[in-house]
Amino acid sequence: MRIAVYPGSFDPITFGHMDVIRRATEVFDRVVVAVLINTRKVPTATGEDRVRVIRESVREAGLDEQDRVHVMTFEGLTVELADAVGARHIVRGLRATSDFESELQMAHMNHRMAPDVDTVFFMTGIDHAYLSSSLVREIAAFGGDVSGMVPGPAARMMRRQLAGD
Ligand code: PNS
Repeated sequence: MRIAVYPGSFDPITFGHMDVIRRATEVFDRVVVAVLINTRKVPTATGEDRVRVIRESVREAGLDEQDRVHVMTFEGLTVELADAVGARHIVRGLRATSDFESELQMAHMNHRMAPDVDTVFFMTGIDHAYLSSSLVREIAAFGGDVSGMVPGPAARMMRRQLAGD
């Protein structure tokens, strides 16, 4: 079985991430979407909330058939997670050339630590090329409409956050 890990902060998941998940499911038998519990970066949503939102978004998009997408939290190194779940590939999205430098660096470092693990990049669809979680968070914080940028479950979670629920 060809298993890939798609690691990220997903704070929140955007339509760009969803596009990468969809493309990855066309190539891999199982895609493990791994939400980083990052001790250095303080997320706006807990790991459990981000996992729940991604699971609901995957279900709403019809990508949950035959257990093709598995969503979980992780701590530590992506290559260690890849080893633990039996993945030989790490999936990442590339939106624009600006992503390339840091992604290249990460891919090389991961490959250096785990030579049997390769990173596979998917070009994020052009409609989502300028989407980022941080911009979405900023727009939502000022009361802007993010419904065309993130799946419904993420938009609802952000509205609840804004309302202080
Ligand atoms: O969505 P993000 O914040 O761009 O994702 C970054 C992520 C989670 C892929 C990266 O920070 C990561 O892999 N963190 C896990 C720790 C690790 O493996 N670091 C070494 C990378 S070379």
